[in-house]
Amino acid sequence: MRPRPPVSRTLPNEWFDALALRISSRRYDGAAVASPLLDRLEQTCNRLTVPGGSARAVLIREAPPEVFTGLIGSYGRVTDAPSLVAFVGPEDAAYEIGYVGESVILDATVAGLDTCWIAASFDAERTSRLVELAKHEKVHAITALGHATKTVGTSERLMRASLRARHRLPLDTIAPDHGQWPEWAREAATALRIAPSGANKQPWRLHMDGDALALVAASKTYWTAPIDFGIAMLHAELGAAHAGIRGSWTADSDNEVARFIPGATTR
Ligand SMILES: Cc1cc2nc3c(=O)[nH]c(=O)nc-3n(C[C@H](O)[C@H](O)[C@H](O)COP(=O)(O)O)c2cc1C
Repeated sequence: MRPRPPVSRTLPNEWFDALALRISSRRYDGAAVASPLLDRLEQTCNRLTVPGGSARAVLIREAPPEVFTGLIGSYGRVTDAPSLVAFVGPEDAAYEIGYVGESVILDATVAGLDTCWIAASFDAERTSRLVELAKHEKVHAITALGHATKTVGTSERLMRASLRARHRLPLDTIAPDHGQWPEWAREAATALRIAPSGANKQPWRLHMDGDALALVAASKTYWTAPIDFGIAMLHAELGAAHAGIRGSWTADSDNEVARFIPGATTR
């Protein structure tokens, strides 16, 4: 079943500033996150659950360490993260999961917390026992939550190197005609470009179609692409909002993931 585009929500300005600060951290100091910070994040999780939206975020204040499995053996394992947030929804909610999940991650970044999107190296079965799942729901992904250690360990360094985690495709590759675009669309593409994606595959391409910004899939995509697209939509929306343009996402044709229509917003 084709995922539906996310329902647009309020976008705090600070989330835009957090875009460039967020990185994935896999090694934490084990110290509990202060309760007021967790309370704030829980409020964000609750606020993101909207009528018509199909994804939700559930804060788990005390994360059982066994939830964080490695990729191969202990390689890539997240260690000593005190908390986590589970991203939950129906099977066809992947875009919403990306959009809502990245909202939580940016809000945590604003609060000075470290995070890591995890769709592969976690125990979904164990996590689903920590949240009350409705019959049609599953845990799509989680984020670790806490304070990263000051120094990066060898395993984390190897992981980042193998993923080329700081590398992003040039704007000319993901948005070939961006030079001729209106400012809001160039800002959207620039904000989208730095988004995280599963295995850093960056499965997105952008083009303008009339006044709309169309998001399409790259020719080769990784299995996390549907979640990655939701993350991309939030980043693009934050970039456009930074340039003063609000809008919303619609599904147009089977050839594209979704399109952003500027001005078409109820916010
Ligand atoms: C949907 C999604 C799933 C991910 N799953 C994992 C995972 O299972 N394990 C992991 O260590 N990192 C995971 N990551 C983190 C990516 O590897 C990371 O975002 C990417 O390499 C870019 O690095 P950065 O986040 O530091 O910018 C995931 C990221 C996304 C967006």
